[in-house]
Amino acid sequence: MNKFGIYVHWPFCKSKCPYCDFFSIPCKNIDYNAVMNAYVRDLNYYAADTAEKKVSSIFFGGGTPSLMTEEMISFIIETIHSLWTVNEDVEISLEANPSSVNRQKMNALRKTGVNRLSVGVQALRNKDLELLGRLHTVEQALDVLNTAKEIFPFLSADFIYARPCQTADEWKAELNQILELDLKHLSLYQLTVEKGTLFYKKGIFPVQEELGADLFELTYDMTRQAGLKRYEVSNHAVEGYQCRHNMLYWQSGEWIGIGPAAHGRFIKDGTFYATSHESSVYHWLKSLNNNKLVLTQKEKAEEMIIMALRTDEGIDRNAFFQITGKAPEDFMNMNTLQEYQSENYLICDGYGIRASSKGIMILDALCSTLLY
Ligand SMILES: C[S@@+](CC[C@H](N)C(=O)[O-])C[C@H]1O[C@@H](n2cnc3c(N)ncnc32)[C@H](O)[C@@H]1O
Ligand code: SF4
Repeated sequence: MNKFGIYVHWPFCKSKCPYCDFFSIPCKNIDYNAVMNAYVRDLNYYAADTAEKKVSSIFFGGGTPSLMTEEMISFIIETIHSLWTVNEDVEISLEANPSSVNRQKMNALRKTGVNRLSVGVQALRNKDLELLGRLHTVEQALDVLNTAKEIFPFLSADFIYARPCQTADEWKAELNQILELDLKHLSLYQLTVEKGTLFYKKGIFPVQEELGADLFELTYDMTRQAGLKRYEVSNHAVEGYQCRHNMLYWQSGEWIGIGPAAHGRFIKDGTFYATSHESSVYHWLKSLNNNKLVLTQKEKAEEMIIMALRTDEGIDRNAFFQITGKAPEDFMNMNTLQEYQSENYLICDGYGIRASSKGIMILDALCSTLLY
C-alpha cells in the first residue's frame, strides 16, 4: 500500500519575515477554538475518502506551528487516531521557530507524540538573522537545538544560504559550524526572493546565479564529507533520518492537507485526486471550501517526474509503471532526453531516470523542456 500522511497547515507567525513567501500571517489574537473546529471539520471531511488508509506520518507545518497549544496538537492527533488507523511508528513532525519554544514547551510537545522537530535557524550570524527579520539570536537558536537534541529522537534544522553579499568563504566557515552541531538532518535552502515579499520590494536579492551554483556545490561536498547524504535538492540526512513525510511528496505518496492553503493528493477507487484550500484564514474558518480535482494520467505522470527528479533516487521505473501503467519516457520528449543524457544532466538506467549533480542545479529548466 502507498504511504499516507496528514499535513496540518498552521498559518500564523509572530511576525512576517521579509523573505518569506509561505502562506503565513502575523497574528496576535488567534481564535484557537475556531481554528480547532475548522481542523476537525477538515479531518472528518477527508476521512470519508481515505479512512481505509494507514497513517505513516503527520506533519505540522506553517507558518509557525510551535505557536499552537499542546492541547490543540494533542486533540488533532487524537482525532486522527479516531478516524484512521495510525502506524505504530508514525513520524510526527512539527516546525518550530526558536523564538517560540523553550525546554518546557519542547517537553510538552514531545508528550503530545511529536517525535521530530524541525527548527528554523536560518543563519549562524546575528547580523544576517537581523537582515532576515528573525526574532531570535544565534545563541537562542543554538540553545533550542541543544535542548531539542535531548528531547526529540529526530531533529532537523533549516538554514538559508546565498544571502545577499555572502561569499563562498563565509558560507564555508558557517557551514562548518553548522556541521559541528552534529545534527542528523539539515534542510539547507538557497535564498529565493519572490514577488510580493518585502525583500523583493526593497530590492534585496540572493547572490548572483553563478555564485549561487558554487555555494550549492560546496554545500553538497561539505555535507557529504560530514556523512549527510543529499536525498533531495535541499535536504541532507544521515541514513535512516530522512523526513518520511516529505518523501511522500517526492515519491508519489498520498496525503491529505488540512488548513488554509494546504494541498493534498490521494487515490480513491483508482482515481487520482488533487485537493487545495484557499489561502485565506477568514474563508477557511467559515467553510471548508476546498478544491477537489481529478488528475488525468498525464498530469499525474508529469507531477511524478518533476517531484522524483528532485531526489537522489530519481524516478523509479517500477513504481512509475505501477501508478501510471507506462514508462517515464512515454511522457518525455525523446530527443530532449537523449540530449540531456549525452550532456550528463540526466542519467538513465534499468532502475530509472535521475538527475546528475550538474542536472539537479537546473531542474526547473530541464523539466520545462523535457515534458511534452
Ligand atoms: C515554513 S518555514 C517553517 C519554520 C518556521 N516558520 C521558521 O521560520 O522558523 C520553512 C523553512 O523554509 C525556508 N524558507 C522560507 N522562505 C524562504 C526563502 N524565501 N528562501 C529560502 N528558504 C526559505 C526557511 O528555512 C524556513 O525555516
Ligand atoms: S519564515 Fe517561518 S516565521 Fe518567518 S514568516 Fe515564514 S513561516 Fe513565518
